[in-house]
Amino acid sequence: MNVDNGRLPEYVADQSRYDKMQFRRCGKSGLQLPMISIGLWHNFGDTDDFNNGQEMLRTAFDHGITHFDLANNYGPPYGAAEENFGRMFKKDWKPYRDELIISSKAGWDMWPGPYGNLGSRKYLMASCDQSLDRMGLDYVDIFYSHRRDPDTPLEETMGALHSIVQQGKALYVGISQYNAADTAKAHKILKDMGTPLLIHQPRYSMFDRWVEKKLMSTLKKIGTGAIAFSPLEQGVLTSKYLKGFPKNSRAVKDGRYLSKNNITKQLISKVQKLNDIAAKRGQSMAQMAIAWLLKDEGITSVLVGVSSPKQLKENIGALDNLKFSKSELAAISKILAK
Ligand SMILES: NC(=O)c1ccc[n+]([C@@H]2O[C@H](COP(=O)([O-])OP(=O)(O)OC[C@H]3O[C@@H](n4cnc5c(N)ncnc54)[C@H](OP(=O)(O)O)[C@@H]3O)[C@@H](O)[C@H]2O)c1
Repeated sequence: MNVDNGRLPEYVADQSRYDKMQFRRCGKSGLQLPMISIGLWHNFGDTDDFNNGQEMLRTAFDHGITHFDLANNYGPPYGAAEENFGRMFKKDWKPYRDELIISSKAGWDMWPGPYGNLGSRKYLMASCDQSLDRMGLDYVDIFYSHRRDPDTPLEETMGALHSIVQQGKALYVGISQYNAADTAKAHKILKDMGTPLLIHQPRYSMFDRWVEKKLMSTLKKIGTGAIAFSPLEQGVLTSKYLKGFPKNSRAVKDGRYLSKNNITKQLISKVQKLNDIAAKRGQSMAQMAIAWLLKDEGITSVLVGVSSPKQLKENIGALDNLKFSKSELAAISKILAK
């Protein structure tokens, strides 16, 4: 597929976009991020509809979502999301570059051989150059180490991030999927080199709460922000699977990371109960799942994926009701604990 069929007129951003979004400061940095950000992991590959992708990003920015999150191997195939974003950037985003926070990452498998994976200086430096090339950018705003490589000294991985900043290829750096202890070490190494650790990108949702144990308190202590990925558990924390498996859903269309087998009856019965609470709050399931994460002020932003502009608008609606009563929180905890 991925061709631009010219369906969309030239883009002019909505002038009221900043009235529609709330921003949070990222840790103790000078950077503020929108409370909802958009990720290009799915739905921007070569098997996806180019104009739909373009419409989703336009909808995002028109609602004040200034942060687009990518990685070297988003696709399919690997690299395609960055390439397609590069084409969109050329068309839509060049005039708005200084209003955008664009991130990329390296750490998972990207190209064959020992230099296209994990955490070596060799891999990170080359991958950052490749990402800039694919996107047609001079710099990214945030460059991440996508995961901790236990066999590479942390000093080497953090040294590569520091060099990328020194070379002007990224403004800030982040880490993803690092545990609390390694996060504290990474922060110290970077700080000693003069590059602050801006942000951590952990997986965090109602169904995956590992960050609550130690990571969030560590981030607060070191002044690093947090952006939660897969906040809707790839769609499970929406009303989408309550009545079966829609054929255009991620679990059916693309079983790579979300398998139908993992969406058990027991899981869906939990979502049904959560959905009832959401309805009483006047929210959709997706909206409550996002609002529930944002109740912690340490969560700078919630990084959603979407397959349509309609889903994105619904998700942004989460910001209309971020307050939870004690009894709502207790009822939610009881469901999640089962
Ligand atoms: N750092 C890392 O290691 C890492 C790992 C994974 C993701 N990420 C980042 O996090 C971003 C988000 O991850 P994710 O895509 O897994 O997030 P998610 O928000 O948990 O799931 C997104 C999927 O949920 C469904 N959905 C979203 N809003 C919906 C709504 N209102 N109603 C019904 N269904 C809805 C859509 O699936 P359908 O296709 O079924 O419609 C959508 O593609 C990624 O794009 C990436 O930037 C980072």
